Amino acid sequence: MLMLEVIDLEKKFGELRVLKGVSFKVSNECLGIIGPNGAGKTTLFNVISGFLKPDGGEVRFRGEKVSGKKPSYLVKKGLARTFQLIRVFKQMSVEENVLAAGGSMEELKVVGLERKRSEKACNLSQGELRRLSIALALSTNPKMLMLDEPFSGLSQAEGKELERVIVSLRESGIPLVIIEHKLKELFSVVDRVIVLNYGEIIFEGLPEEAVRDKVVIEAYLGGNGI
Ligand SMILES: Nc1ncnc2c1ncn2[C@@H]1O[C@H](COP(=O)(O)OP(=O)(O)OP(=O)(O)O)[C@@H](O)[C@H]1O
Ligand SMILES: [Mg+2]
Repeated sequence: MLMLEVIDLEKKFGELRVLKGVSFKVSNECLGIIGPNGAGKTTLFNVISGFLKPDGGEVRFRGEKVSGKKPSYLVKKGLARTFQLIRVFKQMSVEENVLAAGGSMEELKVVGLERKRSEKACNLSQGELRRLSIALALSTNPKMLMLDEPFSGLSQAEGKELERVIVSLRESGIPLVIIEHKLKELFSVVDRVIVLNYGEIIFEGLPEEAVRDKVVIEAYLGGNGI
């Protein structure tokens, strides 16, 4: 089933054209979005999730045109996201955070934080914080989940733990879109990748094909050796 359809999306900041006619589809899969710093990846998430209005093109979520709608509307429709910079209530406990987001112990179990339920969020490790932010997104009962650089700042062990959570989310049937620079971690969870460069999709396909693609290597992988 088609979850998300992005059609010819345009976004400008002043004179800077950050998204230049971006089109792609997401069905029941785990899609990775990679590309150099400033390529427009987070802007793409912001437009899809309603935080920014596009200057052209269209976003369709579960068959409905949603571009121009508010984030709260998208959340009600079943689209949840996390942010590049983690947003949780640091002075509240793990459980209070998840309750405030409308969730329960169920979401904490999914991300493996049930034993940390009484811990203040400010005492969590980076990996635990990241998993808490995913639990908060899951608390809205999403039909699709978008993660912006979930592996950034995590140790290798924390990354492994997050990989397990993402794989279990996939097995539960929820489609995922993940922006990431850490390609080893990303490639262990995605089915397919899109490479964004200066606001344009320069590659769409399997991860193992992306790393062999001359255009991708030139634009991105040269500096990101995998
Ligand atoms: N609110 C804004 N106002 C003006 N320019 C912006 C704004 N947000 C992003 N930009 C610019 O748009 C371009 C794309 O930024 P974006 O954050 O989408 O990139 P990114 O691919 O997510 O990069 P990174 O991998 O570093 O997170 C950059 O040149 C950035 O400086
Ligand atoms: Mg970004």
